Amino acid sequence: MRRSALCVIILSAILHAEPSPRPGWVYVPGAENLIQSGQWGCASGVQLGANSLTVSAGASGYNTVINTSGPILSAAGDFSVLATLSTAPGSTVYLTLVGALNTGSNWWDGLKRLDVGLSSGALQAGYWTGASSNETAQNFPLPAGSTSSIDLEVARIGAQIVIFIDGSPVGEIADPGLFAAGQVYFGFNVAPQNSLNVLALAAAMPSGSSDSLVAPYLTKAARTGTALRDSAEKTGFLIGAAVDPSKFASDSGYAQALGREFNFAVPENAMKFAETEPAPHQFSFCAGDQIVQYAAANGMKVRGHNLVWQQDLPSWLTSGNYSSADAAAILQEHIATVVGHYKAQLAEWDVVNEAIAYGAPYGPQPSYWLTQLGSGYIDQAFLWAHAADPNVKLFYNDTGGEGLGAKSDAVYNLVKGMVSRGIPINGVGLQMHVDTTSAPSASDISANMARLAALGLEVHITEMDVRVPVDANGNATAASLAAQATVYQSVVTACRANSNCTALLTWGVTDAYSWIPGSYPGFGDALLLDTHYNPKPAYVSAKAALDAATNTALPQIATGGIVIHGGAFTSVSPGSLVDIYGNNLAPAPATAPGVPLPTALGGVAVTVNSSAAPLYYVSNEQAIFQIPYETAPGPALIQVKTPAGSGASASITIQQAAPSILTYGGNWAVAQNQDASVNSGSNCAAPGSYLTVYLIGSGPLDNPIPTGAAAPIAPLSRETLATNATIGGVNAPLAFAGMTPGFIGLTQINVQVPNVPGNLPLQVQIGGFTSNQANVCVQGRL
Ligand code: XIL
Repeated sequence: MRRSALCVIILSAILHAEPSPRPGWVYVPGAENLIQSGQWGCASGVQLGANSLTVSAGASGYNTVINTSGPILSAAGDFSVLATLSTAPGSTVYLTLVGALNTGSNWWDGLKRLDVGLSSGALQAGYWTGASSNETAQNFPLPAGSTSSIDLEVARIGAQIVIFIDGSPVGEIADPGLFAAGQVYFGFNVAPQNSLNVLALAAAMPSGSSDSLVAPYLTKAARTGTALRDSAEKTGFLIGAAVDPSKFASDSGYAQALGREFNFAVPENAMKFAETEPAPHQFSFCAGDQIVQYAAANGMKVRGHNLVWQQDLPSWLTSGNYSSADAAAILQEHIATVVGHYKAQLAEWDVVNEAIAYGAPYGPQPSYWLTQLGSGYIDQAFLWAHAADPNVKLFYNDTGGEGLGAKSDAVYNLVKGMVSRGIPINGVGLQMHVDTTSAPSASDISANMARLAALGLEVHITEMDVRVPVDANGNATAASLAAQATVYQSVVTACRANSNCTALLTWGVTDAYSWIPGSYPGFGDALLLDTHYNPKPAYVSAKAALDAATNTALPQIATGGIVIHGGAFTSVSPGSLVDIYGNNLAPAPATAPGVPLPTALGGVAVTVNSSAAPLYYVSNEQAIFQIPYETAPGPALIQVKTPAGSGASASITIQQAAPSILTYGGNWAVAQNQDASVNSGSNCAAPGSYLTVYLIGSGPLDNPIPTGAAAPIAPLSRETLATNATIGGVNAPLAFAGMTPGFIGLTQINVQVPNVPGNLPLQVQIGGFTSNQANVCVQGRL
C-alpha cells in the first residue's frame, strides 16, 4: 500500500451521465452509470453493449430480467431511478424495480415489483405485492414525441411513486410499501417479440440522504490488525486463498473472513475455460469480475487461474470435431480475450496448468491441447498470453512437484527449456495439495525453490491444503490437526526462507467449502479456518511462521521507482521529499518518531551520493526520504541499505527547483479554500478568495532550513526564485510562496483565485521550472 506523508484526502470522482438528477437530488455514489457498474454480465437475458443494454423477448413469453447478482440500491428514504429507454414505436417495455424477491414456488410469491414503461403507446405503471399474480396497473398519457424513446425517472417520494418524463411529472400512484425493506433490485421487462435498448441507467436520492449501492461482492471486510495478512504485509508477502464468488451472497461470514485474513485471491473455478467461454466465442466474466471487484474493495491482489488445462474444457470444444487449426484459433482467441479482459487487473496468470502427467514416468499430460496442437502448445500459450498483456506475470502451475523427485524434475526441465528458448515465463506455481504423511520436507521444498530461483523464476505456493482423515461427521482428531499445523508451518517457513517465494495461497477460505471431501472421500478439514471460520492449530502455526519471517533479500529499487513525493516526476530539488518504490526496502514498516527526521529508521538507511538522508517512512515496498539541502544539482545516486545488505543504486536528477503539485482522486490539486475546507468539484473557491495549494520541490529559500528539520513559523522560509501560478491559464496573484511551517519538505503557495469559473488546471512555476497541472474548482458568478 502506498502511503503519503501528508494527510490523504480521498473523494470519489464525480462522473457525469444523462439524464441527471433533478434539482436538490444527487446521484447515489457509484450509481451514476449502472450500465457500466451494474454487473449485467451476471444477469441472464441481457446483451451488453459498450454503454448500453439490450433486452429482447422471443416469440412467446415476456423476458423479465431482475439483476439479482448485481449491485442493489440500499435506500432507507426517497430514491429515484433514471433510465433512458429506447424501443420501436408501439412496443411494450418496462423498467422493473423490485423491492423484495420471490420467496415461494409461484413466481409472484413474496415478490414486490414495480414496472414502469411503455405499454402499446401509453405510459404505464403497474405493481405486484407478493400475494397474487394480479397486477395493479394504471395508464397515463404519454407526452408528445416520446413513443419510442423516453428519459424516464421513477421516484419514490414519501408514500407516492412519481413518474417523470424529461424531468416533468407525468403520473403518480400510491406506493403500497413495495420498497419497505429498504432495497431496490434493478431490472427490465419486455413483451414477446419486443426489444428494449437501455441507453442510460442511474439512481438518485435527495441530497443529504445516505442511500448507497450495495452488493455482497462489494463487502469491505473488517480488519483486525492481527490476521494472517497483517503478519504477511509486514514483509510485503502475499497470503491468499482460492475464492468461490457465489459464497459472497450466500454466506456473509465468507466475505468477512476472506478480506480480513488474506491479501491475495485466486478464483477456484471462475476463470477456467468452461466458465469463461461457455459457448463458442461467448465469454462470461461475471464471476471472475466479482472476485476482482471484491479484491479491489479489500486491498487484495488477484492471480488468474488458468488459461490452458486438460480439465474443465466445455463439451462444445471437446465434442466439436474441430481441426487442429480450428483448435489453435480457438485457444488463441480464448487467451487473447480472457487475458485482454483482465488486463492490468491481475498480478499474474497461470497460463498452463498440470501439463505433466500425474503419475510416473511424468511424461506430457494427455490432453485435448496436446492431441490437437502437439507439445508446442505450452510455449505458444505463453506467447499468446504475453501478447495480450505484456505486463502481467506468467506462471506454469503444477501438482506433486513441490519438493524434489521425478515430478519436480520434470517441471524443472520443462520451465528450464522455456527459459532457454526465451519464452516469457516469470514463475512456477507449486500447488501443494498434500496430506500429513506424504508432504515434501522443508529442505526439499527449499532446494526446489532455489534451483528455480537460479533460472530467474519466482515461485508461489498456489493451492495449499493439507487433508486429514475425518469421521462420518467430518471431524478430524486433535492429533491430525496438530500434524497438519506442523506441515503448514514448515511449508510457510520454507517459502519465507527463499526470496523468490513471494506468495502462498490456500485452496479455499474455510473447511466448509473445500474441494477435499468431494475429491478425497474420507478426508477433509484441510484449510486454516474451520467450518465456522474459527482459526485451527494450522492457522496459529502458519501465522507464527509468517511472523518469524524477515526479509533476507536485498533491497531493490523498481525501474523508474524514484519519484518526487506524491507525484510522478523523477527530477527533485534539494529539501524535497522523495518516494522510492521497490521491494525488500525494509524488514517491516516504520514511521519516523518525530522531528528532526532520523537517518536510520527500522534498520534502513537511504543514501544520496553516499551521505545518509533523513527518513520519514519505510516499508517493504516504499521508502519516503528527504533530499539533503546540501545536495548539488546534477545526477545523484540513491542507494537503500537494510539488515540484508545494500541494494543496487539508482540515479535521479537534482535541479534547483522541482515544483510538483500534490494531487488526490482524479488529479485534483491538494488545495484548501479560504475557509480551510478542501477544494473539490463540489466545493469550489470563490473568485477573489485565497486558495492554499500544497506542493513538493521548492527552490532555494531566503531562510534556509537544516536538513531533516521542520520549516519554521517565524521568520517564514520563502522562495527566492521568481514564482507564479495560473488557473485555467489565467494569472493567479501570489500572496505567499514558501515552506509550510511545521512540515518537512512541504511547499505551499497562497494564490488569489481569478474570475474563471469551472474545474480548471492550476500550474506553478518556480524559476525556470514548471509543475504538473492539477485541477481546482472555481465558483461561477452567483
Ligand atoms: C478444483 C476445484 O477446487 C473444484 O471445485 C473443481 O471442481 C475442480 O477443480 N488443481 C487445480 C485446481 O489446478 O484448479 C483444482 O481445482 C484442484 C487441483
